[in-house]
Amino acid sequence: MMLQRFRIFVLCFLPLFFSVSLSYEARNPEGFVVALISFRNGLNDPHGAFSNWDEDSVDPCSWAMITCSPDNLVTGLGAPSQGLSGTLPVVIANLTNLRQLLLQNNNISGRIPAGIGHLPKLQTLDLSNNKLTGHVPESLSHLSNLQYLRLNNNTLSGAIPLSLASLPQLALLDLSNNNLSGPLPKFSTRTFKYVCVNLLENICILSTSILIASWRFTE
Ligand SMILES: *[C@@H]1O[C@H](CO)[C@@H](O)[C@H](O)[C@H]1NC(C)=O
Ligand SMILES: *[C@@H]1O[C@H](CO)[C@@H](O)[C@H](O)[C@H]1NC(C)=O
Ligand SMILES: *[C@@H]1O[C@H](CO)[C@@H](O)[C@H](O)[C@H]1NC(C)=O
Repeated sequence: MMLQRFRIFVLCFLPLFFSVSLSYEARNPEGFVVALISFRNGLNDPHGAFSNWDEDSVDPCSWAMITCSPDNLVTGLGAPSQGLSGTLPVVIANLTNLRQLLLQNNNISGRIPAGIGHLPKLQTLDLSNNKLTGHVPESLSHLSNLQYLRLNNNTLSGAIPLSLASLPQLALLDLSNNNLSGPLPKFSTRTFKYVCVNLLENICILSTSILIASWRFTE
């Protein structure tokens, strides 16, 4: 009798359970929960910014620091000023629906994973005020939707990838307070509104006409 009731329960509710979990998995097909947990586990989180991230959950949209689109896609990860340290987990590249990645004002060290350049929807990337080292990845120039890029106040070195100039949507770029060198990319005057780099000194350029003048100056 008990067993029979149990069977009836399973038959009634199992399809419901599967349809709920499937709908999230269908929207987050790359295993977002696994990737997010792996991301969290790669960083030191002294203030518990990610403490309500539950690996048994099928719905990361209820987690702190996560934003979702109305159809429950994970589109934003924003944990600025949380004292995070460690290196930026390479698994970040698996979060393929991200539009915003905001990790400014932390203590994150090491290199910027090249995989960030393969987040096709990324519009805003702010890693400013950390302890990042190494180069600005050339792969960032694949981010055809990128509008806002702040990598200022780190310890990045090497040349600025000239291909950043071909980012069609880029409206703000701040690379100041790093150890970058080499020529400035030849930015289009079309959409570009603000650029800040440090070569000879910190140069912040607020209009396209000044951009051209300052670029000539650093040549
Ligand atoms: C990240 O993506 C790679 C390649 O698609 C896959 O092999 C790996 O298992 C994923 N990692 C996680 C934690 O989701
Ligand atoms: C970075 O770490 C240092 C030393 O642990 C600490 O004093 C400082 O407040 C941290 N900065 C941020 C932005 O978390
Ligand atoms: C970046 O570093 C400069 C020079 O150390 C400092 O003046 C500025 O306040 C820093 N910017 C931010 C946003 O902390």
